[in-house]
Amino acid sequence: MSAKLTAPRGTFDVLPAQSELRRRLEQAARDVLEPAGYGRIETPAFEATELFARGVGEATDIVQREMYSFDDGGGRSLTLRPEGTAPVCRAYVEHGMHKLPAPVKLYYVGSFFRAERPQAGRYRQFSQVGAEALGSEDPALDAESILLLHQLLTRLDATGLRLRLSSLGSPSTRAAYREELATYLHAHEAQLAPHVRDRIDLNPLRAFDSDDPGTRQVMSAAPRLLDRLTNADAEHFKEVLRLLDRADIAYEIDWTLVRGLDYYTRTLFEFTSDALGAQSGVAGGGRYDGLVELLGGPPTPGIGWAAGIERVLLATGEQNTLTDTPLDLYVAHEGARVDAFELTREARAAGLRAEMELAGRSLKGQLKHAERLNARYVAILQPDSARLRDREAGTERAIARDDVVSQVRSS
Ligand code: HAM
Repeated sequence: MSAKLTAPRGTFDVLPAQSELRRRLEQAARDVLEPAGYGRIETPAFEATELFARGVGEATDIVQREMYSFDDGGGRSLTLRPEGTAPVCRAYVEHGMHKLPAPVKLYYVGSFFRAERPQAGRYRQFSQVGAEALGSEDPALDAESILLLHQLLTRLDATGLRLRLSSLGSPSTRAAYREELATYLHAHEAQLAPHVRDRIDLNPLRAFDSDDPGTRQVMSAAPRLLDRLTNADAEHFKEVLRLLDRADIAYEIDWTLVRGLDYYTRTLFEFTSDALGAQSGVAGGGRYDGLVELLGGPPTPGIGWAAGIERVLLATGEQNTLTDTPLDLYVAHEGARVDAFELTREARAAGLRAEMELAGRSLKGQLKHAERLNARYVAILQPDSARLRDREAGTERAIARDDVVSQVRSS
């Protein structure tokens, strides 16, 4: 026998039962987002590497070491998309969507790829449902976006949810703050963990993420972005909070919230679930008011989020609990294959869920199989006779073969 092949590390197969759950999740996303004006967009699974280098940021972990990049054969570098916001903004610019009435609201469901160390809830190919709204900086859009995500997660019965929120201010505030923080970190270099020290100039905000005790102590006295927000940014954030209060959404403000993408400005948020282990982030997002312009479009504010589908399923604890949909009709046969084939085809054409015996079982074995499939009716076809068994009523009677479908349909 040849050596057995398996799916690559950090990837997985979606088998039929799980695929049904994912379909439901997708349907829920549609039900929540489309009435709020979101239209579905699909972008390619790979893009020019430059899109992510520019959009997500050269200094991020994603761009530094998590991208699957390859040469297209003509010397151009392509990358399997690690996230969906930069591609959506690329499409927004490419298709002149800035000429549409604002805000332009788009959502997507698809696969994303990151060369991360695999563990529970962290994969190298994973799926996201995401929503982006472009062309407005109205704080009501921030609140609406968060509210829709909250509705989606609660509709799916995700448990142990926590929402953390922050504001990063405008790009210039953020840039000035980064510099101030880097200067502060350099002044305390000796107490910092080596991996934090190495990244001071590349990404000083990540220092807030560290578990190292020395680093944590330094960070507890670090300058806070909160104190550097302009009045306009602070007012914008206050208004977002006011609207979330109105919608009765519980949140915690967390000024140390850091997300691994560089495009964020102003509102930043993340939903975690206690039902998950170390990879507790179920969904996250925020504003990215400079991204469209960075990608060659006109200055355009934007806000959005993405939820990890596998993590949502983990947080709903539902991944294996689905039972198969029962069959309406199982067609058992002995010496009547053509009749069985015809009857099954007719039954399906009439809208029934129907299957015929296809594995050469004995009649006894076929009846057992019908039970396994949880078929409501079993037709038993033999050369000169047809019988219909009603498994729910526990009855069986002779029937004309042509009457089987109408009988099953009328029940
Ligand atoms: P992100 O936080 O990198 O944001 O990813 C969003 C969600 O995708 C995470 O909360 C998590 O549930 C899931 N996820 C991320 N990486 C993995 C992985 N390796 N395995 C399994 N699930 C994963 C973004 O991607 C932004 N584009 C979100 C956004 C949209 N911001 C504004 N608009």
